[in-house]
Amino acid sequence: MAGVAVGGIALGAIGGYSLVTPKETIIEKEVEVPQEVPEYPWEYKKLDVEAVKDRAYAAYFDGGCAYGTFEGVVGELKEKVGFPYTTIPTKMAVWGKGGIVGWGLTCGAITGAGMALNLVTDNLALVNEIVGWYTTEEMPQYMPAVARKVEGELVKSVSGSPLCHASVSSYTDAADCEENSPERVERCGRLVADTAGKVAEMLNALADGTFTSTFQVPASVAECLSCHGADGPINNVFTKMDCTPCHGDPHTN
Ligand code: HEC
Ligand code: HEC
Repeated sequence: MAGVAVGGIALGAIGGYSLVTPKETIIEKEVEVPQEVPEYPWEYKKLDVEAVKDRAYAAYFDGGCAYGTFEGVVGELKEKVGFPYTTIPTKMAVWGKGGIVGWGLTCGAITGAGMALNLVTDNLALVNEIVGWYTTEEMPQYMPAVARKVEGELVKSVSGSPLCHASVSSYTDAADCEENSPERVERCGRLVADTAGKVAEMLNALADGTFTSTFQVPASVAECLSCHGADGPINNVFTKMDCTPCHGDPHTN
């Protein structure tokens, strides 16, 4: 006796003939009640930070940096929480790679992190924190069990910027390698693991009620913003990025 599953109900079939007629099959499908998507933001269960990093690192080599962090966190949530995370096609984050398909804008590790964070919480302090953390953290730190491109320790660098272009340059300068070298690709994969791990750490802390923001806009930037920012007399600049890599200090030169 073979079983035929329709709408989650197993029905028997004898001698190779299904007891369910095609018509009945359609009716079964029609009465199937879809699970209602819960209120946003969605339920969170604390994640294993190391598992998130491993998943993010592997995902990087399958769809780039933004997909890497997004899949690292959301992929683990699919396993820990299940529905509704199981409805998310995490490949929707691929667009963010290379700072949006090679434009060198916001590093995709951050884009993916922001998407994952904002799915679980509407507290944007966590998004601000991940961007600030990214600009000041020495990376990469993650050490894969089996490296995809280059084994062993890599040179570390501080991006000083959330921009892919600046971040990659900080690394290729420090490591004295080319943009499309295996080292640079390996570095970005590990940086994605670090960033996804930081997202999981922050979300775990939020779940425990212990999350606090630590990032502060550096004093040198705050000083420029005291005149150029929204609260200053000139009020013509809208960014928290470090000004000097792009402008130098135009007032002393
Ligand atoms: C005490 C107030 C003050 C501070 C602090 C200050 N600026 Fe300015 N900045 C000005 C004024 C005034 C101008 C000229 C007026 C204008 O361009 O609107 C100016 C002009 C500029 C310009 C040229 C804008 C243009 O139109 O070409 C840049 C770029 C700039 N500032 C960047 C910075 C940066 C970077 C810092 C921090 C390192 C900084 N400023 C700090 C007051 C300030
Ligand atoms: C990623 C590079 C980059 C960074 C970082 C950056 N700027 Fe700019 N900024 C530009 C560009 C490009 C322009 C537009 C072209 C120009 O005027 O030079 C600009 C324009 C300006 C202007 C002229 C605005 C106007 O209305 O005419 C000021 C003033 C300025 N920036 C100040 C700052 C300050 C202060 C910071 C840091 C808080 C900062 N910038 C960070 C690239 C940058």
